[in-house]
Amino acid sequence: MYLSVKGLAKSFGNNEVLKNIDLEVNKGEVVSIIGPSGSGKTTMLRCFNGLEQPDKGNFQFDDGFTVDFANRLRKQEILRLSRKSGMVFQSYNLFPHKTALQNVMEGPIIVQKRSKSEARSEAEELLAKVGLKDKMGLYPHQLSGGQQQRVGIARALALKPELLLFDEPTSALDPELIGEVLKVMKELATENWTMIIVTHEIQFAGEISDKVLFMDGGYVVEQGTPQEVLKNPKEERTKQFLQRILNTT
Ligand SMILES: Nc1ncnc2c1ncn2[C@@H]1O[C@H](COP(=O)(O)OP(=O)(O)O)[C@@H](O)[C@H]1O
Ligand SMILES: [Mg+2]
Repeated sequence: MYLSVKGLAKSFGNNEVLKNIDLEVNKGEVVSIIGPSGSGKTTMLRCFNGLEQPDKGNFQFDDGFTVDFANRLRKQEILRLSRKSGMVFQSYNLFPHKTALQNVMEGPIIVQKRSKSEARSEAEELLAKVGLKDKMGLYPHQLSGGQQQRVGIARALALKPELLLFDEPTSALDPELIGEVLKVMKELATENWTMIIVTHEIQFAGEISDKVLFMDGGYVVEQGTPQEVLKNPKEERTKQFLQRILNTT
């Protein structure tokens, strides 16, 4: 077992955004989360890496690290939690005044206090891995959306997290650029990275995932294999969502 989430709940004011979420992610598994806008998907990912403090619930990791949100977390616990995972954002979130290479080197140098030369050679390798060997010196505005998102992925990998979190990584991209990002993600899946992916790319989710969750209104309405959730959904809400999304793409 890699990560077990039990009874996760989070409200903003009196808006209950996550209601009693249970989830298990095993090492090397790819878990996809689908669901309508506003269902709590981003908030859930942000809870996983400490960007958001849940009101209730607990996380258990396989190395014995446990956090219980009944108590407000100490700074040290938040830090440890945030270092477990790397996040890839819908809007890339690159530093605009740093080159692709500098963007990838930044975390290892600042967060992990690694030497510049080591950080540089690893960043170069990672950028080559995502197909950007000849773009390393370019700034975000000189790159296409697909290229920027691949820098975003290299940046997340640079911190060597145990868990990769993707929040709609292709939603901001022109259709013809989506494939190059999905291809990199597929490669990571075959390398046995543990990944949680929020996506509207249903076919991709079906191909890449070990497990699919459908969320609506702060609940996990249904979870199971891609075959179960995407091909033979049991719940009416899942059926309706899939019908809507497959008709518009
Ligand atoms: N920082 C915040 N403050 C207040 N409300 C928030 C905040 N972040 C998210 N919400 C609310 O939480 C709900 C779920 O949002 P979100 O997790 O972004 O859903 P999704 O990613 O599924 O579209 C929405 O109603 C949203 O307005
Ligand atoms: Mg979202």
